[in-house]
Amino acid sequence: MLKVKIENLIRRAVEELQSQKKVPKTNLPKIKIEHPREKTHGDYATNIAMVISKQTNKSPLKIGETLKSQILKLKPDLFEKIEVVPPGFINFFLSEKTLIRELKRAIKKEYGSSKMGKGKKVIVDYSSPNIAKPFGIGHLRSTIIGQALYNIYRFLGYKTIGDNHLGDWGSQFGKLIAAIKRWKKGKTDLSIEQLEKLYIKFHKEAEKNPHLVEEGRMWFRKLEEGDREARRIWRACIKISLREFKKIYKLLGVNIDQTLGESFYEVFLPQIIKEVKSKGFAKKSQGALIFEYPKNQLPPAMLLKSDGATTYFTRDLAAIKYRLKRYKPCLIIYEVGVEQKLHFRQLFRAVEMLGWLRSKRIKLIHVAHGLYRTKTGKFSTRKGGTVHLEEVLNEAVLRAKKIIENSKENLRKKEKIARIIGIGAVKYNDLSERPSKDIVFDWEKILNLKGNSGPYLQYTCVRCQSVLKKAKTKMDLRKIKIVPLNEEEKDILREIYKFPEIIQEAAEEFSPNIICNFIFQLSQKYNLFYDLHPILKVKDPDKKRFRLTLTLATGTIVRTGLNLLGISVPERM
Ligand code: ARG
Repeated sequence: MLKVKIENLIRRAVEELQSQKKVPKTNLPKIKIEHPREKTHGDYATNIAMVISKQTNKSPLKIGETLKSQILKLKPDLFEKIEVVPPGFINFFLSEKTLIRELKRAIKKEYGSSKMGKGKKVIVDYSSPNIAKPFGIGHLRSTIIGQALYNIYRFLGYKTIGDNHLGDWGSQFGKLIAAIKRWKKGKTDLSIEQLEKLYIKFHKEAEKNPHLVEEGRMWFRKLEEGDREARRIWRACIKISLREFKKIYKLLGVNIDQTLGESFYEVFLPQIIKEVKSKGFAKKSQGALIFEYPKNQLPPAMLLKSDGATTYFTRDLAAIKYRLKRYKPCLIIYEVGVEQKLHFRQLFRAVEMLGWLRSKRIKLIHVAHGLYRTKTGKFSTRKGGTVHLEEVLNEAVLRAKKIIENSKENLRKKEKIARIIGIGAVKYNDLSERPSKDIVFDWEKILNLKGNSGPYLQYTCVRCQSVLKKAKTKMDLRKIKIVPLNEEEKDILREIYKFPEIIQEAAEEFSPNIICNFIFQLSQKYNLFYDLHPILKVKDPDKKRFRLTLTLATGTIVRTGLNLLGISVPERM
């Protein structure tokens, strides 16, 4: 990667000059270069001269100048120029030769991928809806962001394992079974909406009739003990729910490697409780068993309820232990709503206290996503209920159809394209914000062909594709020569080479939105160029070839970016 190459170059220059005593010897910090905000400050900048100066009282400008000549001596044609500017920044301007070299790399599909993750495993815990409840908008966020992170890590060479931690166990199932026994005579030919209603009804009735609460507890106990009737009803509920969820995953084009679910960890729970107890972190409290943190750093977490029922927390402990042992991952990412922040802090701290992390380098991360809102307030149905995801997705496809109303494709193709645009738009809207931020749901913005939207980027890709098709060229695009560049061309080149950095940054920060911003900016620059300059009508073959290569690279990068985000590109739009 160009960035790393330049960082290493600077380090080498500093070390060499230090050994020649031309630059005072100091403890060299990690050298980092950044992209200056202003184009006039070059492509990269470093403050290393100022750092060295602070430690030695030598003028930063002088140190900068000495470093500059050394760097130019080591790599004369990497840069067009290097400038040392007050108070002591060194600004690097990449040469056209360097930019073109990156351009040639950028027309390959794998541009931006890496082997940095080779031999390492990452588990992504995402989507994870709850049985007997419709798939809500919160789980949509988890599914979309989780899938993007999964794709990004995979592209960087990590072995990725996607795990759908289905909410298929817990005392709520006792209540549901009790409700089905009471009001449906144990019959299970029910829809997911009926299941949800039964659960709500149970809660309402239980307020008036405490006997029901006892009934729910009894059924969960039976379920945990393996009672046949309890298990039969429970399994039926799972089946009903999975049928629904699969429909949604199909619509979204998402495929999650495995679905173990909370129930999978049931058999491990007694051991977990035993271990927590033996290590001295468990305490009885009002009949329940809790996990206690030293000096009340965190509120205690519930291990067993007073009726002996196991908890979400205990199952998550078991899941971590299982995952660490089975996969030996270097990272587990939990893509779950921000409302579970405390839960994950308690969980990760407990894991540390239990000594399960064999190396300090193993990371457990909660990527906490914000809520969905509308411009006016809460995201809910007119009656104030929760919004069902399937309706939202279907509406997106319907609205996308309007965009391509005038296209000459046949009906079936139109349907397919509308699907790609509609679903892509909803996904992009979600991903283009930092996960922690709330998402404003505004159809105008989501499908705006001129703004930072999925359709705009898909359109850019399709445009590039169509230019290349029309060029019908068999010419070898890699044989491009350096031609005098105009401003717009240079601006595109000065974006393209950043793509590999962007992907790594998105992974490190768990922020797919970094990729969104980048491909949006690149698209804007390309479209500006497209509006101002001819491509196919250019006479000079070298110039034409260069412009086609620029088109190919832009199209390839935007497509790769979108695919990492889980968004496809239609053939035509
Ligand atoms: N089913 C949970 C919910 O909907 C999310 C589970 C997230 N994953 C986890 N390992 N806790 O709230």
